Amino acid sequence: MSTQASPTPPVPAGPQPVGGATSHLEVDERMQALEGAADAALLAPSVHGSQPWTIVLHRDRLELRADRTRQLQTLDPSGRELLQSLGAALFNVRAALAARGWAVEVDRLPQPDDPDLAAVVRPVPGAPEGRLPMLVDAVHRRRTHRAGFLAEEVPDELLDYLTAAAAQEDSALVAVLSDAQRRLIAELTQEADAVQLGHPDCRAELDRWRPQPPIPAPTDRPAGPRRRTVDSVSGQDRTFLLITSPTDDPIAWLRSGEALERVLLELTVLGWAASPMTQSLEVPRTRARLRSEVTGESHPQLLLRIGFAEARPDITRRHRDDVVSTGDRARSPRHPDEDGSLVRGGAGRPPSDDAVAHRPVPDGRGGTTWI
Ligand SMILES: Cc1cc2nc3c(=O)[nH]c(=O)nc-3n(C[C@H](O)[C@H](O)[C@H](O)COP(=O)(O)O)c2cc1C
Repeated sequence: MSTQASPTPPVPAGPQPVGGATSHLEVDERMQALEGAADAALLAPSVHGSQPWTIVLHRDRLELRADRTRQLQTLDPSGRELLQSLGAALFNVRAALAARGWAVEVDRLPQPDDPDLAAVVRPVPGAPEGRLPMLVDAVHRRRTHRAGFLAEEVPDELLDYLTAAAAQEDSALVAVLSDAQRRLIAELTQEADAVQLGHPDCRAELDRWRPQPPIPAPTDRPAGPRRRTVDSVSGQDRTFLLITSPTDDPIAWLRSGEALERVLLELTVLGWAASPMTQSLEVPRTRARLRSEVTGESHPQLLLRIGFAEARPDITRRHRDDVVSTGDRARSPRHPDEDGSLVRGGAGRPPSDDAVAHRPVPDGRGGTTWI
């Protein structure tokens, strides 16, 4: 599946080829943009903070790959939530490239014989996708909110706006507003919680991914589950949103992850907070009931609670060097200043794969510097 950015430029279009040829400056700018996009991907939400991705940077593209060693084998045997996490990272890549003025071509799951290749993203000259540049600051500020929400009605206009945002990612948003449906969500979440916590392999997996003390078995559990659950149908904890897809396959999972991040970033920009809470979607029986009783034909993919909340603490991330590598062809050509090819209309030497005069290196603090 390939998409090209929409034609409405909110910021000046990205670097353009000089005289129809690819200039050294353009190559450098593209590579710097790809480096920044990789940084943005690392900030995406992921199921249980598993960050199940690796990124390979090439001179002309970024490959986003699944890291199956970080898949939750018991809670997520199909890899649905793994692909949703990759979808969220992919959305950050798209936003970061758009913010640098690039249009993008995205190939999702392009190779059937390589299902771990989730997406290939190519920056191309042209108009960046409409709203994405405005979301990039929120990539750094977005946090999953697990504490309570302040009593504040979620306005219908906000729900309409988020519904339109999800639709741009081939997903739908179902707001759960009636008391009966919210009670159902609470019941199914608690049921799924009990199923998972009663299963030793699930508990071990939750322990593995949570940097917290072990989760006790249900019999000796103190009050209050570790994972955010639904404890109220009152005016607080007001609104649940279900992100749904027309199909239930790997592409739909990836797209629903993109929809999730788009919705989360829009909420962040607008000063609202959100928390995915997906137990009820991880247990087949409760997921089936959500579909039959709430979403109808479409497949429920993610459950979110949204509301108004105080600012949240910072989070930890995998070190960049453990995630991002550089493909053979990602080395930069000589800097354009060296032969003046750009200023003289591209008359200098063509870029050479072996010319490595200006290249990105990790700065030792999880970022990138250019030497
Ligand atoms: C597919 C998916 C499912 C998630 N499910 C839950 C959940 O059930 N409960 C929860 O508290 N957080 C959930 N999260 C949020 C992650 O735990 C969170 O993104 C991760 O810990 C990193 O923290 P951050 O979002 O603040 O960056 C989910 C995230 C994704 C992408």
